[in-house]
Amino acid sequence: MDVLVAGGHGQVARRLLRLLAQHGDTARGLIRNPDHAADLESDGAHPVICDLEHDDVRPHVGGADAFVFAAGAGPGSGDARKRTMDLGGAVKCIDACRELGVARFVMVSSMGLQDIADGPMRPYYEAKRDADASLEASGLDWTIVRPGRLTNEPGAGTVELARRLSRRGEIPRDDVALVLLHTLTAENTVRAGFDLLSGTTEASQAVATFS
Ligand SMILES: NC(=O)c1ccc[n+]([C@@H]2O[C@H](COP(=O)([O-])OP(=O)(O)OC[C@H]3O[C@@H](n4cnc5c(N)ncnc54)[C@H](OP(=O)(O)O)[C@@H]3O)[C@@H](O)[C@H]2O)c1
Repeated sequence: MDVLVAGGHGQVARRLLRLLAQHGDTARGLIRNPDHAADLESDGAHPVICDLEHDDVRPHVGGADAFVFAAGAGPGSGDARKRTMDLGGAVKCIDACRELGVARFVMVSSMGLQDIADGPMRPYYEAKRDADASLEASGLDWTIVRPGRLTNEPGAGTVELARRLSRRGEIPRDDVALVLLHTLTAENTVRAGFDLLSGTTEASQAVATFS
């Protein structure tokens, strides 16, 4: 499979690109900073230079079998970039996939997008919510993965996922990447979304039994 990952030098994205490369897939990572290219190459991935807020992504999308959106403006980036990156960058990728016939689209979203409270996280949550809505309306073969708070603890290989989880919590980025890898080829996750936290079910099993 040829998989294009937006936010290619991001912490989840690099973990996913490494897994894809180890799995024998063509792992392509969209990055905006050419200085990051060597890191992707050392991961076994192919760097593709594209700034999602300023460049046309379409020249890089055609021919991909799947697209993963794992980019983000990041903490401290300011409210405006939540609209231009977390929302605008995502919509640009969704539109490019529609135009170029790349049906499979997996979005890294976030838990906590229902009943968004006032506070400093509100612009981020609203941007993620609106990006998810755009994807759901796209007609693509989408899956929305909504992890809790991300950590850099070593992955356990085990998770809990469901359309809605009633608890809040966290999950290592390693385990998010593992779930993304399995989700890409899981027909049962198409046109569905799930919350994702650390848990006790082996990641491939958790994805395979999702309904
Ligand atoms: N942090 C959390 O607890 C949490 C919880 C749930 C969901 N999420 C979501 O999970 C996803 C992955 O998180 P993460 O921690 O792996 O993110 P990350 O390490 O912050 O990576 C985000 C990547 O997006 C890239 N990016 C930013 N602006 C860009 C632009 N204009 N064009 C191209 N690339 C751009 C960044 O590139 P540069 O390196 O060049 O800046 C960075 O590599 C994000 O969508 C995030 O919103 C996070």
